[in-house]
Amino acid sequence: MLQGKSIVLGVSGGIAVYKAVELLRLLTKAGADVHIIMTKNAQEFVAPLTFQTLSGNPVNTDLFNLYQEQEIGHIALADRADLFILVPATANLIGKIAQGLADDLLTTSVMATKSPVLIVPAMNTNMYENPIYQRNEKYLAEQGYHILEPVSGSLACGWNGKGKLPDPEVIFTAVESMLTPKDLLGCQILVTAGPTREEIDPVRYVSNYSSGKMGFAIAKVAQQRGAQVLLVSGPTCLTVPVGVHCIPVCSAEEMRAAVLEHYDNTDVVIKAAAVADYRSADRSVQKMKKTADRLSLNLERNPDILAELGQKKAGQILVGFAAETERLLAHAAEKLEKKNLDIIVANNVTDPGAGFDTDTNIVRLLHADGRVESLEKMSKQMVAQQLLNRVAMLWKVKGR
Ligand code: CTP
Repeated sequence: MLQGKSIVLGVSGGIAVYKAVELLRLLTKAGADVHIIMTKNAQEFVAPLTFQTLSGNPVNTDLFNLYQEQEIGHIALADRADLFILVPATANLIGKIAQGLADDLLTTSVMATKSPVLIVPAMNTNMYENPIYQRNEKYLAEQGYHILEPVSGSLACGWNGKGKLPDPEVIFTAVESMLTPKDLLGCQILVTAGPTREEIDPVRYVSNYSSGKMGFAIAKVAQQRGAQVLLVSGPTCLTVPVGVHCIPVCSAEEMRAAVLEHYDNTDVVIKAAAVADYRSADRSVQKMKKTADRLSLNLERNPDILAELGQKKAGQILVGFAAETERLLAHAAEKLEKKNLDIIVANNVTDPGAGFDTDTNIVRLLHADGRVESLEKMSKQMVAQQLLNRVAMLWKVKGR
């Protein structure tokens, strides 16, 4: 998503400058071309060489440096950016921008740019709460600047409160979001993710190896593309993506109830969850004690949620997953038809790089019109992008 994007990272002087270094690393790793502008005070915290080494570009520090002016020029820098980000943005920097002051390279470039600007403030709590600062921040938001609010926590100055720079990963996600076209704006998407757990007794359960990574990646990317996303997730260790509403569930029955409750108001359902097909037929209220040498579990069928959605389909786009270990296409095609789906995403979980807990996947996309597409091995986030490209097209064809 950030591949080839030109980003100007403006760094002003605060203790949080070290987090801008980590952010830079994330941005360059994602393929962005990042140009740094540092204020004089920022250089007191981290040397420009660190930013230069990690960005692969010269760091711009001085409005009147002839070499920098000749090579890049603050106007050229301002013109070329797809996005301007100010991390950390001090109260002083925000005050200057709000007053229209342009007395160094950073403030001059911000004033000269026509690209979107993301401001990520960080400062002492009392400074943050100061009505003058609040007025400046509000004014900039009204002028179309994007503000990613600081978070609460213990601050470098010893205070505890709001003013802390959000984690670099959070800022990175906001950047990704701002640079993502909103082709799913107005689309209601329900994503299921993770495994379900079927209780045997109060301390044991039957489940599977699903990590939830694929479903969470879909939810995150769909949200960034403008969709209203509801995530119904079984137990996972993952953080719910920013802007996504999550209903946590445990068993298949709970997942079914949550999905059915929202089905009527949904345009697209993507069922990435690995639902347990069976549950214990006689759940024990008390912890089961070991007595006999052998123990047989008596299991009964869980409802097939996706099949039920397929039967009740009233214009929704339905996407299923088929995690197989053999006869991939045959099994997937059968599920596509039987469950009345528009697309099924098939993967062989025994292929290296396509399993449950990996960050990559190798999938085939089978369409209701008979087309089969083979995608190469790619990150789960990229699989999510590819899948949502197809979903967006179907959604547009349906005239939504
Ligand atoms: N699914 C579901 N409810 C179930 C089982 C599966 O909604 N009880 C959904 C999954 O979320 C997935 C699709 O159906 O999108 C296929 O799931 P999969 O486990 O691959 O297939 P099953 O239909 O369960 O068939 P089998 O286990 O026999 O392969």
